[in-house]
Amino acid sequence: QIPVITIDGPTASGKGTVAQRVADQLGYHLLDSGALYRLTALQALRRGTDLADEHALAKLAEHLHISFTGEAIFLSHENVTDAIRAEEVGNTASKIAALPAVRQALFALQLGFRKAPGLVADGRDMGTVIFPHATLKVFLTASVEARAERRYKQLIAKGIPANMEGLLMDLKARDDRDTHRAIAPLVPAEGAHVLDTSTMTADEAVVQVLAWYAA
Ligand code: CDP
Repeated sequence: QIPVITIDGPTASGKGTVAQRVADQLGYHLLDSGALYRLTALQALRRGTDLADEHALAKLAEHLHISFTGEAIFLSHENVTDAIRAEEVGNTASKIAALPAVRQALFALQLGFRKAPGLVADGRDMGTVIFPHATLKVFLTASVEARAERRYKQLIAKGIPANMEGLLMDLKARDDRDTHRAIAPLVPAEGAHVLDTSTMTADEAVVQVLAWYAA
């Protein structure tokens, strides 16, 4: 069996960074499942797809032409690595992620990322729905304030304008949607190790995850 480490958690909990570093350390592949929802959202926004049209959105998700090259993400050969990180895209992603047909459309694609020598999968439902038999499951959390601050720094570093108050509101709204949706709600998977990173650096979290994996 090809090993899988799942890292789930709320928005801006640091899962992306931690998952990337754990994958690098182990020489494993990485699945940034949030990117798939963001790519679907970006495509929908660009095409002006009705965000209430579940069927149309699922079709769009099913026919995405995407490729991951190193840390760059391409949509129909266009480099959209930065474009998908915009807050508007993230908010739209969190809305369409509540639609069962969209999640279903991205299901097989996600399973395909499991390749030798192993996979680190980051998202909301990696341990609960996509890889329920994962070798190691981790649930990363952090306080709302710590997460808003991280997101703020991330955006500013990329030259994307951001304001703290707006970010806090968005974050809470996204948490609320992710935890209360009917399908694949954000909860720690059975058997998941919960790690609160409010006062931890990403590297400290990486060390903890690797220690659990080695145990
Ligand atoms: O950066 P942030 O954590 O806000 O988002 P992300 O991990 O890039 O994912 C974007 C959105 O996709 C999230 O707000 C979730 O609603 C949704 N998502 C999901 O439903 N299931 C996943 N496995 C990954 C993301």
